[in-house]
Amino acid sequence: MIIFGAGGDLTRRKLMPALFRLAGAGMLADDFTVLGVAREAMDDDLFRAAIRTALEQFLPPEEATKEALDKFVPRLHYVAGDFAEAATYAAVQERLTVLETGRPADGGRLFYLAIPPSVYATAIDHLAQSGVARRLYAQSDRPWVRVIIEKPFGSSLESAQALNGVVRRAFSEHQIYRIDHYLGKETVQNLLVCRFANSIFEPLWNRQHIHHVQITAVETVGVERRGRYYEEAGVVRDMFQNHLLQLLTLTAMEPPVTFSADAVRDEKAKVLHAIRPITPATMHEYSVRGQYGPGTIDGSAVRGYRTEPDVSPDSGTATYAAVRFMIDNWRWQGVPFYLRSAKRMPRRATEIAIQFRQPPHLMFPLRDGEAFEPNVLAIRVQPNEGISLRFEVKTPGVDVRMASVEMDFNYVEAFGDNGHEAYETLILDCMLGDATLFTRSDEVEAAWSVVDPMIEFWGHKAPDHFPNYAAGTWGPSVADEWIHALGCRWRQP
Ligand code: BG6
Repeated sequence: MIIFGAGGDLTRRKLMPALFRLAGAGMLADDFTVLGVAREAMDDDLFRAAIRTALEQFLPPEEATKEALDKFVPRLHYVAGDFAEAATYAAVQERLTVLETGRPADGGRLFYLAIPPSVYATAIDHLAQSGVARRLYAQSDRPWVRVIIEKPFGSSLESAQALNGVVRRAFSEHQIYRIDHYLGKETVQNLLVCRFANSIFEPLWNRQHIHHVQITAVETVGVERRGRYYEEAGVVRDMFQNHLLQLLTLTAMEPPVTFSADAVRDEKAKVLHAIRPITPATMHEYSVRGQYGPGTIDGSAVRGYRTEPDVSPDSGTATYAAVRFMIDNWRWQGVPFYLRSAKRMPRRATEIAIQFRQPPHLMFPLRDGEAFEPNVLAIRVQPNEGISLRFEVKTPGVDVRMASVEMDFNYVEAFGDNGHEAYETLILDCMLGDATLFTRSDEVEAAWSVVDPMIEFWGHKAPDHFPNYAAGTWGPSVADEWIHALGCRWRQP
C-alpha cells in the first residue's frame, strides 16, 4: 500500500490505526508493506518512529503494546518527495521494485491519496505516466492496481466531472475507490441487512406507511483547525454532498438484485436522480441555514464561528443546514426526507429516523395534555449504535391510558464492543476488490447536481442574521419554525 500524504493527520489518526488493527487481527498478508510518501524529509526510521508515536496516541494502551508495535512498524517504509515532481514517482517506482523483489508476482498495489484535493489531478497524472500505477482493463487482471481517493471529490458538479475525467484517463472505473467513511460505519451497513434480510420492514417501507424521514448528523466540535477549508466548504459541501446523501440513498433505494458493487450502486444512483431539484425560487421552502455564535459546550465556553482561526469576521458560511428532499418516484412520492447537519450542537449524534403515519382513526380518547406519539424506527449510527422502535402501549391500571415505549437493539449489549472502525472495513474491502461501499462516478456527480444550486444560491446572498444559533444549542429557531410549519418537529437524537 502506497500512501501519498503519509505525513498528514488522516494517515496518523485513521489510516495507520486501521492498518495496525487489521494486521493484529491477521487480516493482512504476512508480507504486506506500506510505503509512505510525503514532502517531509524523513527516512524509514524516522517515519516508523512518527507512526509509532501516532499509534500510541490514537489507540488505547492495551492495543498499542510494545510487542504489537515492534511487529508492525518494520512493515513501514518511506520516500520523501513533492507530489508535483516526476522525480518523486521515479523514486517511488525504484523503492517498490526493491520492496516487491522476491514476493509473489500477483501482489497488488493499493494507492491511497491522502493529499489535499488541489493536488489530486497532478498526482493521478504522474502515477499513470510514470508507470507506477497502470490502467487495467479487466477486474480479474493480476497484479491488481487500485486507487483510493479521499473526499472531497470535487467542489461542484463541474469540478467533479473534470476530476472524474482525469481519473478515468489514468484508470478504469473498477480500479477507482472514492471513499466515504460513513459507508464503512457498522450501522450504515446494518441498515441494508435490516431492510433486505427481514420481511417485516419492507412492506412498510413506502409512502403508504411512512410519514417522513429525518436523517441527522450533528457534532459538538466546531471547525477546529480547519477554518480555511471550512470557509470554502461549509456544511453542505462538507457533510451533505457525501455522508448525508449517502445515508439517504441507502434508506430510500429499491432492493438491489444482488449484493454486488454495481447492483447496489445502480439503485443508489437512481435515488439521487429522483430527488426533486431545488431552485432559487423554492430554496426557502426546502432549506434553512445557520451559523454558530459563542456559547457553551459541556460546561465550557466556546467561541463563535466568526472568531475561529482562519475564518472571516463577517463570514456567511453555514455551519448548520436543514434540507427537505422530495424523492419523485413511486415509492416515496409525497414523503419528505429532512436532512440536518451541524457543528457545535449539544450532542454528537448520527441517526436515521423513520416516522410512520398515525393510525387512520384513534378510538382511544386523549385527555388534556396527552399527546399521541407516532411510531418511529430509529437507526442510531453513532454513538450507542443500535436500532430502536417506538410504539404505544397501555399503561397498567383500570383506565385505558397510553404511553410510548421503546424496543431497543444495542450493538455493544448484543455483541460486545469490538471497537471496529470504518476505515478498517473500507481499506480491507478495497484490498479484496469489493467496491460496494465506495461511491461510483455517477453517484458523486448526481450528488453534486443535488447540492450545487443550494451552494450557489447561498454563496450569492450572505445572510444578515448570522450567527443565528449559540454553540451548544439545537440550531436556529427558524429551523424549528420551518419544520413546524411543515407539520413535523425535530427529534433530539
Ligand atoms: C468529515 C467532515 O468528512 O466527517 C468533518 O469533513 C466531520 O467536518 C466528519 O467532522 C464527521 O465524521 P464522524 O465519523 O466523526 O461522524
